[in-house]
Amino acid sequence: MLVRPALLTSLPPSPLALFGREGPLVLEIGFGDGRFTAELARAHPEWNLLGAEVSAASVARAWRRMKREGIGNVRLYHGEGGFALRNLVAEESLFRVYVNFPDPWPKKKHQENRLLREPFFRLLSTRLAPEGSLLFTTDHEGYFGFALEEAGRTGLFRVEVLPPPEAHLRTKYALKWKAEGRTFFHAVFTRIAKDPSPFPPIRRYPMPHALLQGELPEDLALAKTVLPLEKGAVVLLETARKKDGFYVLAHVEEEDLVQDLLLEVRRSAKGVYAGLARFGSPLVTEGVQRAVALLVEALERAGLRAVQRSY
Ligand SMILES: C[S@@+](CC[C@H](N)C(=O)[O-])C[C@H]1O[C@@H](n2cnc3c(N)ncnc32)[C@H](O)[C@@H]1O
Repeated sequence: MLVRPALLTSLPPSPLALFGREGPLVLEIGFGDGRFTAELARAHPEWNLLGAEVSAASVARAWRRMKREGIGNVRLYHGEGGFALRNLVAEESLFRVYVNFPDPWPKKKHQENRLLREPFFRLLSTRLAPEGSLLFTTDHEGYFGFALEEAGRTGLFRVEVLPPPEAHLRTKYALKWKAEGRTFFHAVFTRIAKDPSPFPPIRRYPMPHALLQGELPEDLALAKTVLPLEKGAVVLLETARKKDGFYVLAHVEEEDLVQDLLLEVRRSAKGVYAGLARFGSPLVTEGVQRAVALLVEALERAGLRAVQRSY
């Protein structure tokens, strides 16, 4: 039920690979405790429902709910909705997208964190099927107007402002805001044209590593080494000594993707190996390659010589 992009043979995955069957593909972004997702799944057993959620605790709660309720047509992705839209969904394949009560980021200086911005709507237009739609419900009038403007600027959607459907007012946050007597806003954005930009899925690379020769130093002084990327950064956070080398904790931020990696330096029969440790299943992106390259540069500064690089 949990989607691990690194374990998928291709991005985007086919409906067969993800759900084991064909069916109308529906995405919910920010599913929270998953009660709305479960309700949708029960009401439409023929739908293939993909949920994206950044909070690990919420993903765990929703996962338990689906198991408890015996729901089989839902897949959960722990990560950014933008990443799911771009990488887990094929072009023009989405029947519908749901966004209920997204974080409003009410302060002007934080509005760039809002999900429903112009670049999101442009990407969305390439993933929605013709006449596919996004249904948006919020209690935040400011965000509501903002989203209408952002979508309007693309010229790619027909927008209808409607009363929210009953089911959208039964989510955890809807019930919370209802109890406070708040007003709700709802809009349907139907795709009428497709943005001409390609928006390809993220590029994957082979497992990066290097072989070096020379003596390992006592310490690797690379904590908090930062490498800015075009849309993100690589940070080497911490180094720990182990019997035959080092572990290095790295943090990689790329567009809509944040990964923590464990890198490793160890003596092997052929010399000194530097690369990814066997831990987690990171998606091998450009940022992951750059993290390994940073580590190799640090080893070279410490006097080792790279005799083979694979990145
Ligand atoms: C206010 S809650 C609403 C949850 C649920 N939809 C409901 O109505 O009860 C917003 C949810 O969106 C998630 N979230 C925020 N930004 C996100 C993003 N970019 N991608 C996926 N989930 C996101 C948060 O972790 C949180 O669970």
